[in-house]
Amino acid sequence: MDINSTTGPLAEITADWLIVGHFTVDSSNPLPPPLAELDAALDGTITRLAASGDLTGKLATSHLLADVPGLAANRLLLVGLGHTNELDSRHLEKVLVAATRRASKSASVSATIALPELGSESFGNSEAASLAAMALQVGCVGQALYHTDPSRYAFSAASVHSPADDAVDAVVRGSVLGEAINLTRELVNRGPMDVYPESFADRAAAAAAEFGLDCEVLDENRLQEERMDSLLAVARGSVKPPRVVVLRHNGGPEGAPALAIVGKGVTFDSGGLSLKTSEGMKTMKCDMAGAATMLGAMTAIARLGLPVNVIGLAGLVENMPDADAFKLGDVLTARNGTTIEVLNTDAEGRLVLADVLAYAVDLKAERLIDLATLTGACVVALGEEITGVFSNCPQWSHALEQAAKQAGELAWPMPMHDLFGDLIKSDVADIKNVGPRWGGSVTAAKFLERFVDKTPWVHLDIAGPSFASSNKPHREGGATGCMVRTLVAAAENLA
Ligand code: BES
Ligand code: MN
Ligand code: ZN
Repeated sequence: MDINSTTGPLAEITADWLIVGHFTVDSSNPLPPPLAELDAALDGTITRLAASGDLTGKLATSHLLADVPGLAANRLLLVGLGHTNELDSRHLEKVLVAATRRASKSASVSATIALPELGSESFGNSEAASLAAMALQVGCVGQALYHTDPSRYAFSAASVHSPADDAVDAVVRGSVLGEAINLTRELVNRGPMDVYPESFADRAAAAAAEFGLDCEVLDENRLQEERMDSLLAVARGSVKPPRVVVLRHNGGPEGAPALAIVGKGVTFDSGGLSLKTSEGMKTMKCDMAGAATMLGAMTAIARLGLPVNVIGLAGLVENMPDADAFKLGDVLTARNGTTIEVLNTDAEGRLVLADVLAYAVDLKAERLIDLATLTGACVVALGEEITGVFSNCPQWSHALEQAAKQAGELAWPMPMHDLFGDLIKSDVADIKNVGPRWGGSVTAAKFLERFVDKTPWVHLDIAGPSFASSNKPHREGGATGCMVRTLVAAAENLA
């Protein structure tokens, strides 16, 4: 879906939905600018609504006017942005996505978002224009991918009316990010019958061809040649063969990649022989969210033409119980030679990432980020909305926290003391794949650290925020596409 940048009087915008953001109104002061302009075209309606107290502009309130004489648009949705100096990007995003979700419930609908001049110091008109474009992309796509009658429809036309000097570029950027988030969401929301290692790799190859990324897919034979025996062990219980996808964006000067992004791509996690309960299993189509986030971010990095070399890697397996499945007590030798005693086949993500991280190190990546729905323990620690940040390098960790802040996403640093590393020492092998219950997200991260050598590395545990359990007005349930924007910002900051 293309999104345009538009200018001119609001009353002349033709659209089924004209969504106008405005700050608080009070009867003792003149109406804020976009409302004053609309009021003139509407013969004082807005003044009267403000006087009666029906229109306040309080954050996240809204007021719908349909069939208004004086307006070219069919509907006017006034959305409150609160006080000028209190609005931040996360609140603006919620308000705008709520509005686009509301407008996208029927077919062949066009929508325009009009934004006021922002007085905020933390973010400006340009970021707001990007957010509006992103909201138009994200709000009209839901998780009901398999409804026979669609419950949400892409807009037939969409545009942003913004006071930003660089509105055209800002809208392109937001639109690209929105489509990247939607790609991630779609892959996560599809069921494991549709999304398995080979089909994920095909989708990645198609996206790579569309957006100008180099793509290499490593099949089972190649993975054996590459000694990825830890990843291969997890795949053994499934009839679906594993894959590793390697995407390259060569935007920088010739030489080593400045950044490698590695995603956990367990297309379904039954737990293997350490079988999950039905309750624990029912959302496990989401266990490839790390890989899907990598893919979404790589498409955006390519489309925005970032002047930096980035590689993206996905470790794709299905974790199933079977007569040939890997077992408790098995000892695996990972690509870097580390031996691993398997004591729980449900701690499979770290076994997959171990080999793919070691592969990224061998490709001479200067910095690493991995993303994984790795542990329920991280959800216990930080809840369902915050990404856990684990690292072997304070500078790189800070850079990621900064990138998340710029992107308007929530991430929080977790401890990495050596005492947690001691908890995964094994009596029979170098390490075991599971520690005690307490501190489970940290022992998982300490496990991964064994495979990144000395490379600056950040591990993002997205088990909580990547998949939402219910619909909310401001966001659809299911896949969220979290961290796509943070990855793009991190790559941008390296350029
Ligand atoms: N994929 C799960 C983690 C997960 C849990 C993701 C909830 C999303 C929501 C992971 O493979 C797993 O099963 N982890 C175990 C580790 C344990 C066996 C050490 C867990 O968290 O219980
Ligand atoms: Mn598991
Ligand atoms: Zn898993």
